[in-house]
Amino acid sequence: MKIKVMFVAGARPNFVKIAPLLREFAKHRDVLKTSLVHTGQHYDFEMSGVFFQGLQIPDPDIHLNVGSHSHAVQTAKIMVSFEKVVTADKPDLVIVVGDVNSTLACALVVTKLGVKLAHVEAGLRSFDRTMPEEINRVVTDSLSDYLFVSEESGLKNLRREGVSSNRVHFVGNVMIDSLIWAGKHVGKSKVLDNLNLTQKEYGVVTLHRPSNVDSDTSLSEICDILQLVSEKIKLVYPLHPRTKIMLKKHGLLGKLTVLTNLGLIDPLGYLDFVKLMKESTLVLTDSGGIQEETTALGVPCLTIRENTERPATVTQGTNTLVGKDKQKIARCVTKVLRGKFKRGTVPALWDGKASQRIAGIIMDHLADRPGSRRAMG
Ligand code: UD1
Repeated sequence: MKIKVMFVAGARPNFVKIAPLLREFAKHRDVLKTSLVHTGQHYDFEMSGVFFQGLQIPDPDIHLNVGSHSHAVQTAKIMVSFEKVVTADKPDLVIVVGDVNSTLACALVVTKLGVKLAHVEAGLRSFDRTMPEEINRVVTDSLSDYLFVSEESGLKNLRREGVSSNRVHFVGNVMIDSLIWAGKHVGKSKVLDNLNLTQKEYGVVTLHRPSNVDSDTSLSEICDILQLVSEKIKLVYPLHPRTKIMLKKHGLLGKLTVLTNLGLIDPLGYLDFVKLMKESTLVLTDSGGIQEETTALGVPCLTIRENTERPATVTQGTNTLVGKDKQKIARCVTKVLRGKFKRGTVPALWDGKASQRIAGIIMDHLADRPGSRRAMG
């Protein structure tokens, strides 16, 4: 009998994280049976299907088709559907990634059914409980049997929270596994030609956090910031559906469409987005993963947040937290344009081998289970 490992993914950043894991676990097909459950938290082609294509992720075995709802309803709907899946399929281990609502919902189900749970990207803390992701991280970590940590701050955080060290494994960053894999494929991307952009002559914007885009005051400040920066450098902004909805709701879309040096575009697929970041002069973001990707690519990143759960990107990488401080942002942009921004180094174990380490640890542990020796050959 093969050992059953079930992966869960639901939202855009999850797809980037499971791709290298699925590829690595597929190498152990002789002893493992893997499956993929897509919760359907993200469902538009631009938010989901295009990532499966670009990252060559196999079609999900099961799709829960949950869709967008309030936090409680979305989490509850995922739990109800996922409980049926786990009860029917009886996996030996479920692997969840990141910090989205799908991560939390599935972690709760798995633990209550007495199935082993692994969390990839454990230990990250912003210490800001107004962020839904922080709640998802804290709860998922407290339930997990295997906590796979991407940067050293995670080890410290989990130690402080009293998590037993034998559950914690410092493996590096699976998001960077995907980025390094993408390096071999981005050559195909025509995104710069399509958008009429020249290498190192533009900045990329991605902003979608509720704290930045949900209220009209905050979104209006963001529009002012983008106007200010676009006076210094050409900007391209792939709009997240949440931001588009909020810009329309608050009557602010016109404030951006009039900016001649800012291009609003639809969300991009993974390879096009990596190419866009790689060739840019700077990135303005509030995304977690993009703070890490810019650090790995050596591209200056200004993060429009007051805190980060990924401090290695600031202490070692190219990231600077700028909040919504216009003067600070203007100063940083000028510094970048003069070539004086910090160069940064790549954090430990962000080397493209995190998934390999995770698979190795899981294989060793599952092989040690009573009755599993024979199955492991
Ligand atoms: C979610 C994650 C966030 C992650 C982000 C990446 C949580 C709590 N948040 O935020 O951590 O950084 O994904 O994108 O899990 N929508 C569409 N099409 C889609 C998906 C969403 O139009 O395919 C719209 C819906 O109107 C929805 C809104 O976007 O209400 C927000 O989607 P949701 O999944 O609730 O949160 P995100 O802001 O995407």
